[in-house]
Amino acid sequence: MCKIISIANQKGGVGKTTTAMNLGVALRLQNKRVLLIDLDPQANLSAYLGFITDDGTADELPTISHLMLSAIGQVKKLNNIKDYVRHSKINNIDYIPSDINLANADFYLAGAIARETVLKRMLSDELIQDYDYVIIDCLPSLGILLMNAMVVSDSIIIPVQAQKFAFDGLTMLNNIFEQVKSTLNPKLYIMGILPTVVEHTNVSNRIIEQLTERYSDKLFNTLIHKSTKATESTIRNKSLCLNKSRLGEEYKTLAVEVIERTA
Ligand SMILES: Nc1ncnc2c1ncn2[C@@H]1O[C@H](COP(=O)(O)OP(=O)(O)OP(=O)(O)O)[C@@H](O)[C@H]1O
Ligand SMILES: [Mg+2]
Repeated sequence: MCKIISIANQKGGVGKTTTAMNLGVALRLQNKRVLLIDLDPQANLSAYLGFITDDGTADELPTISHLMLSAIGQVKKLNNIKDYVRHSKINNIDYIPSDINLANADFYLAGAIARETVLKRMLSDELIQDYDYVIIDCLPSLGILLMNAMVVSDSIIIPVQAQKFAFDGLTMLNNIFEQVKSTLNPKLYIMGILPTVVEHTNVSNRIIEQLTERYSDKLFNTLIHKSTKATESTIRNKSLCLNKSRLGEEYKTLAVEVIERTA
């Protein structure tokens, strides 16, 4: 059975995209079949994977916004759902890219019937049955796209920066989670809270202590430390797990925990 995992936190820059990419590739290295979905109009994950739109070379290719807008008749849906899937050779992973048009989704979906279930309806069994894991990289906002991600997911991973203001917004995120769980998706659960950008400082240590107090067994054992390798890896369009680095090893350890938690 395919497990769908959303990487979510409406706070910006906490490591959602870095986690989606490197957890995905780490799961591939464990021989799992993985599909990454970029659900952010900023399209950072797509860029990380080497999907190019700036110079026009990938402009004709379908994206997640085509797929979502096709659900409400704004564009024509491709006959074969698998035509939405691209493949990153360097990272040996399948993905559905995003583009800036996804920024209009809130507007287009506002008047649509059952607008929280669009993604669920579009990600047909025919597509996801080929994978063990689908990982959705969410955008930094609490809106209709995040709800769509939560409705289609089995679980959520919440990256939290072990820095000042780490807890900002977690209550609001939990509210949306509870609403989705009590209405459209009762099976949804929080798989884990992932401390990111961890440093050997008093602030970082305190945040980890507080996270442990508040979330105990929900907290992953793996900590993702701060490293300049994270940004370097996005520039090279290559996962941290494919070169020797501490951060890459941490994401590989996280993948083992994720496999355990979804067993
Ligand atoms: N462990 C880390 N150490 C240092 N820098 C990191 C780490 N993880 C991510 N970064 C860098 O921090 C920035 C934000 O990370 P990322 O894009 O993964 O966050 P995000 O939560 O997806 O952001 P957004 O909310 O904008 O989508 C990027 O430049 C990334 O390379
Ligand atoms: Mg991101």
